[in-house]
Amino acid sequence: MMPSQSTDIATDAVRRAVEDAVQAPSVHNTQPWRFGISGSRISVRADADRRLDVADPDGREMLISCGAALYNLRLSLRMQGFEPVVRLLPDPDRPHLLADVHLESQRERAGDEVEREYAQIRRRRSHRGGFRPDPVGAGVLTALRHAAEQEGGRLIQAVDAHVKGTLAALTDAAEHVQQCTSSYAAEIARWAPAPTTSRKDGVQQGAYPRQTPRTEPHFPARDFARGQGWGVEPSDDDGTLRAGAVLLLVTGDDTPAAWLDAGQALQRVLLRAAEHDLAAVYHTQALQVPELRAFIRARFCGD
Ligand SMILES: Cc1cc2nc3c(=O)[nH]c(=O)nc-3n(C[C@H](O)[C@H](O)[C@H](O)COP(=O)(O)O)c2cc1C
Repeated sequence: MMPSQSTDIATDAVRRAVEDAVQAPSVHNTQPWRFGISGSRISVRADADRRLDVADPDGREMLISCGAALYNLRLSLRMQGFEPVVRLLPDPDRPHLLADVHLESQRERAGDEVEREYAQIRRRRSHRGGFRPDPVGAGVLTALRHAAEQEGGRLIQAVDAHVKGTLAALTDAAEHVQQCTSSYAAEIARWAPAPTTSRKDGVQQGAYPRQTPRTEPHFPARDFARGQGWGVEPSDDDGTLRAGAVLLLVTGDDTPAAWLDAGQALQRVLLRAAEHDLAAVYHTQALQVPELRAFIRARFCGD
């Protein structure tokens, strides 16, 4: 039992941690998570009503999103001086119960690395568009790789122009398939609401450009506007925009536990990138088409 003053501190910490957790990125901003609080214990659940049944029938991206939220939760508790103890998928009979988290006693203060990462939770934003030609420094890429590895993931950089071009072409093919498939299109429509919406979930029109600029190589963006003229005016950028550093985030297994690891690794990488004023664009279309995902996995995700 904790003395009552410590219990109050733990309760406040848990509440703040959940507020920080929900700042995580999620596929189409579906926010597919639920948190339960009982004293100093937190349960993290997937909200299957928010799964993309067409694009993500296995719930892989739903669990990646929940993993990202779990990472924020852990980071926030560390920032507040608690050591989170996490049991992933604690009950095989309840697959939507993703994690049980409880707090170990308070420590002195969070380390500098925790403070720097924590400061990025509300600064991090998904980017949709191209990048300036300046390369990402080797030291930063090493730091991003390390961040992924600390969470059981691996970042593979596509350096070869042909590999980057192939990934761009596969993304283009998948985008085309999805736009031509009415069930995909209906799902995008559900999660990219009209500008008049009062909803707080889904991809809002202020979050994507009216027209996505071409990049070299060209990775097409998702068509959230669907020909309605929604989206913000693109900024006047001179010259050709680049696709930036092209990185594949992989895990050893392809299981729900590995998807949660992938989400935690993703969020740690994104926060580390934000420390260097870098943002990420997501090119996940081809990963939602099983044949293309299998091809990418076999060809580009090995050692
Ligand atoms: C698993 C996953 C897949 C995503 N896929 C895409 C995508 O295909 N296209 C896109 O523009 N954004 C994608 N996103 C970014 C989300 O749309 C974004 O996180 C969400 O709208 C919230 O915005 P924020 O990240 O700026 O907070 C993805 C995010 C996650 C976690």
